[in-house]
Amino acid sequence: LWTPSNIIEDAISAIHAQTGDDEVLLGLSGGVDSSVVAALLHRAIGDRLTCVFVDNGLLRQGEGDQVMATFARHMGVRVLRVDAEAQFLKQLAGVSDPEAKRKRIGNTFIEVFEAEAAKLPGVKWLAQGTIYPDVIESAGAKTGKAKVIKSHHNVGGLPERMRLGLVEPLRELFKDEVRRIGIELGLPAEMVYRHPFPGPGLGVRILGEVQKDSADTLRLADHLFIEELRHAELYDRVSQAFAVFLPVRSVGVVGDNRCYEHVIALRAVETVDFMTARWAHLPYDFLEHVSTRIVNEVPGVSRVVYDVTGKPPGTIEWE
Ligand code: XMP
Repeated sequence: LWTPSNIIEDAISAIHAQTGDDEVLLGLSGGVDSSVVAALLHRAIGDRLTCVFVDNGLLRQGEGDQVMATFARHMGVRVLRVDAEAQFLKQLAGVSDPEAKRKRIGNTFIEVFEAEAAKLPGVKWLAQGTIYPDVIESAGAKTGKAKVIKSHHNVGGLPERMRLGLVEPLRELFKDEVRRIGIELGLPAEMVYRHPFPGPGLGVRILGEVQKDSADTLRLADHLFIEELRHAELYDRVSQAFAVFLPVRSVGVVGDNRCYEHVIALRAVETVDFMTARWAHLPYDFLEHVSTRIVNEVPGVSRVVYDVTGKPPGTIEWE
């Protein structure tokens, strides 16, 4: 019988059988899948789980603190937070090609993660939040059936390089099942029903070269958009929503002065499988309100546009 508590019981037995008394390491991203793995492993093996949370400086507003509050403070999970913003920004300096950016971010993540793992010599296993659709997708990629449009950020070669066994307790589950398990394990609904966020984070939402100033600008604009979606009870009615930083300037007027500042694009989509998507027909009054707030509250932004492109032909992300 499929109930969240049965699945949790089975998963815990399987984790015990696989890992015995060994220590397990998990890269916690704050996304749904790795969060549910963290909660599940913590229930199964308690302090034998160590999570590493890498703050790459490309996260959403308050995300790092939220992860620490939920896991470390409320649940008592051992989480090592690594502030690696400077390292990531250094690797991204001067790089503007989207695929090159993804590779730099992915490689830097591996470097930072391996350096942390090296401090934990007792660890024998690496846990990952692989879910069933990932298994199918990567099987397709191996046989060449899936055409890779964007190289998605994942840590494919990591376990072999680190000589760790792999623990993937969500491997047979679909996303909605993972969410139900997360709720049953006591994770906040806000975390479990969060929109997906790409591994490279704001790095692929700042078009062209990534700089700290643009990341800060984007983070604030994105936060205002998401906050307003939640207030208007629209957040759960769209599948994914975010802001994008455009590295162009446009003329505007602020008070009596002409200004020449950056442009923020807003994107919101409705989709079931993220393979195709329709742009969300958000109410005009709502968009007007968000636009006003962004221009008034985000320094360095003088214009806001809304993306009305479906997928296809557009992708959901801009890079
Ligand atoms: P696209 O832009 O390809 O996005 O239409 C489809 C879904 O995938 C997410 N996405 C990524 N996720 N690493 C990720 O982990 C990536 O490099 C990446 N690129 C896109 C995107 O946010 C959307 O949900």
